[in-house]
Amino acid sequence: MEQTTARRRIVTAKNYNELCVRTIDAIFNVTESSIGGHGRCAIALSGGITPQGIYSMMAADAYRTKFQWDRIHFFLGDERWVPADSLRSNGRMISELLIKRGNISASQFHPVNTNTADPNASAELYEKEIKEFFKIERGAIPRFDLMLQGIGDDGHTASLFPGVDALNEKKKSIVAVHSDTVPEPRITVTFPVINNAKDVFFIVSGKGKSSILAKILNDNAPVPAAMVKPTSGTATWFVDSDAASMLG
Ligand code: 6PG
Repeated sequence: MEQTTARRRIVTAKNYNELCVRTIDAIFNVTESSIGGHGRCAIALSGGITPQGIYSMMAADAYRTKFQWDRIHFFLGDERWVPADSLRSNGRMISELLIKRGNISASQFHPVNTNTADPNASAELYEKEIKEFFKIERGAIPRFDLMLQGIGDDGHTASLFPGVDALNEKKKSIVAVHSDTVPEPRITVTFPVINNAKDVFFIVSGKGKSSILAKILNDNAPVPAAMVKPTSGTATWFVDSDAASMLG
């Protein structure tokens, strides 16, 4: 089922498996359109548990042979400031589930370097790497072809948690975040980057997210995920029926 307004689309899938399939098909369409349009596709991936089925399925035979992997570059929308081999690392999760299993060249994957003196140094290095990739000057905002976003039950997205200073960042693309709601410092994209993207895909699954999803989509609750309003792009919410059970 689909519902579209000006710049927001909601795609409701029967279950998690269908949610993954619908999302991957849409990701594939974005990659083909971006590669056809400007020769490559830059995607910022979400961490956490929800997208893991998507990454695994993308790397499996049915999809692996479809994507033009050598024209696609994967970045992270956020990372936990932990060692690269930590089980908490989003980079490690994506490398295991998608990059290695999909036999995708390591040169296509741009993880966050967390082997630094402090989280700010990681954020500065990542911002520098992204600006070099997009060939933009300091102060300019990169335009990803696609950003995959999850939401927490407090309404955060990426590592933009309620109440953190990063919510008000207007100039930097990548900042370090400290929140007492998570066990480690985070490195995250900022709203200027998310809202500059061509496409933003939210992926929301399970009954546990039904309340916060309804607060965001029904009531436009003042939570970070509701602050995602792409300037000239589209936000598409891929949700399964459990997560959508409280939507109007
Ligand atoms: C992270 C994510 C974070 C995640 C939400 C939802 O590093 O954890 O980027 O923003 O998307 O917390 O996480 P789940 O998918 O695990 O519920």
